[in-house]
Amino acid sequence: MPPVRATGQHRSRMGQGVLTAAFPRLDGVLHAECVPLERIAAAAGTPTFVYSASLVRERFHALDEALAAVPHRIHYTLKANSNRAVLGVLRALGSGVDVVSGGELFRARAAGFAGADIIFGGVGKTDDELREALSAGVALINAESEAEVRAIGRIAGELGVEARVSLRVNPEVTVEAAHHYIKTGERGHKFGIPYDDALHVAHVAAALPRVALAGLDMHLGSMLSRAEPYRAGAERLAELCAQIRAAGITTLRHLDVGGGLSVRYADEVPLDPAEFARAVIPIVQATGLELIVEPGRFIVGNAGILMSRVLYRKHSGGKDYAVADAGMTELIRPSYYNAHHRIEAVRRVDGTQLLNVVGPVCESGDFLALDRPMDDVAPGDLLAVFDAGAYGYVMSSNYNGRRRPAEVLVDGDRFAVVTARESYDDLVRHEVPHPDWRS
Ligand code: LLP
Repeated sequence: MPPVRATGQHRSRMGQGVLTAAFPRLDGVLHAECVPLERIAAAAGTPTFVYSASLVRERFHALDEALAAVPHRIHYTLKANSNRAVLGVLRALGSGVDVVSGGELFRARAAGFAGADIIFGGVGKTDDELREALSAGVALINAESEAEVRAIGRIAGELGVEARVSLRVNPEVTVEAAHHYIKTGERGHKFGIPYDDALHVAHVAAALPRVALAGLDMHLGSMLSRAEPYRAGAERLAELCAQIRAAGITTLRHLDVGGGLSVRYADEVPLDPAEFARAVIPIVQATGLELIVEPGRFIVGNAGILMSRVLYRKHSGGKDYAVADAGMTELIRPSYYNAHHRIEAVRRVDGTQLLNVVGPVCESGDFLALDRPMDDVAPGDLLAVFDAGAYGYVMSSNYNGRRRPAEVLVDGDRFAVVTARESYDDLVRHEVPHPDWRS
């Protein structure tokens, strides 16, 4: 791994637990690893997402080491950041992936992942998607209902293959997540097989000729900062495993505890991977199954920033605004989840100000920060919106005719544009200019 130079400030921030190693401020200017962000802005323009390959590697290794006591597999969850260059970094480390659509399956394969490295999940898989997954020879399909298990069996029969199926069970564990939209494993949620139905569905799966019941899976939600729900959920899966075995079904191989490990955005205390490991490892060890984890945000969340330029400053109704060239179309998390993303001027400025950082989109909900004491930035200044590596670019949109931004990967003292900014032509590429009317 290329060294990331540590300045005194850099060290002191890390001492406070704010992870800025990937984006140090050197001589007053923020860098991505060893590359000044200003150089990236000059080459790629703004708004642009910038990712640190070294931090992605560091996070992968941290989790891998925390789980070393048990046979395990990390299946990085593509939905957090599915850029192929980022996927390439993870593939080189031996990571697997977790995908939830035909599109993500396509991306994973385009990034070089073999079927055996891929878990296919998702609450509403179509027959076509199941066909694609089975044809690709995915390691596991996480099934979310009895009807889906039957559909998998039918399609596996048509294709003449065996489907390795894991049951995604709703463990009905109450969690504290940052926002109720990112909780998934409580009673009554749309995800997974209700716990009380799972043994029955296991019997159905075991009886289908083309289906091998290979695992049990859960996902409690995202931004989980306590280990206890993982322990409780894993225990419920272990109980279910015992019941399935007691019924004479002996094909289980994997126990998947999902993703959801939190990261620091502001002053949260994220879940330490070692504590997570202490909660789940004894339970998994007792089952003799291989542990699978599906982290997304933990791997990439802190490893990306969104770089934007201030276009205007204005004062309205007693409030101070900085109008930036990025907003909800690039990073929807502040508007959609009321999420906090730290924002700093790329080149240190004098003074702080209570600011509203808003985007150019015609929505009052288009903001990156509200009433935030922060650098008193001026038009032309570059901003770094931190911790935008997960659920940033992947949730971006073309609303207001916005072109989706560029993505840049940095590795040590090198950087590369890994996604070009969209062109205007891209905006109309799939439209049919002269409708071919039919009746
Ligand atoms: N596995 C499953 C089945 C999932 O649904 C998810 C995320 C993950 C793993 C990875 O979760 P993570 O480790 O990243 O927390 N857009 C929201 C987050 C949605 C998470 C959806 N599922 C946000 O920006 O906070």
